[in-house]
Amino acid sequence: MTDNSKIHVLIDSKTLQKKVKELGRQITKDYKDKKPVLIAVLKGSFIFVADICRHINVPVVFDFMAVSSYGNAKVSSGIVRITKDLDTNIEGKDVIIIEDIVDSGRTLNYLIKNLEARNPKSIEVCALLDKDVPRKIKNYIKYKGFDIPNRYVIGYGLDIGERFRNLSFIGYIDEE
Ligand code: IMP
Ligand code: MG
Repeated sequence: MTDNSKIHVLIDSKTLQKKVKELGRQITKDYKDKKPVLIAVLKGSFIFVADICRHINVPVVFDFMAVSSYGNAKVSSGIVRITKDLDTNIEGKDVIIIEDIVDSGRTLNYLIKNLEARNPKSIEVCALLDKDVPRKIKNYIKYKGFDIPNRYVIGYGLDIGERFRNLSFIGYIDEE
């Protein structure tokens, strides 16, 4: 990537925050009288989970998982690997997976299978971004932020080669 590559805004900060608040309120309603475990998928979801949890007004606990599916490239290797597992036991718990973005759906698919094997009471998925790609596998997203076009996006936790995670908006790069 060159230095004169241009960053374009796809979803601005205000629009993001409004949606995150709505999603948090919806989860608050649906999990009234429950104590869900928010499982954030690192690293991309760290900003999303930090923002959404402050709009969820039920007792939540947190856990984190890190998976790697892209390595350092923009193209998926297709192989999902757990690089950090949960610290807690989720058996009998209401789990909400917090994902930044669903692209091919492979990561989510793998995660759900992996977590189901630990016998939680329930698993739902909250994903900020859903890319418009043809998928053969089921779309599990219950709480969705935005449908976005099929292009590589950065910011609000998302990176290219570890850069741009700190942008307050979702953008894309013109590499011409
Ligand atoms: P999937 O397994 O193809 O659905 O990819 C999921 C993971 O790849 C996401 O959780 C992200 O970490 C990463 N990813 C997919 N698309 C993008 C993107 O456009 N920008 C940054 N990361 C992405
Ligand atoms: Mg991710």
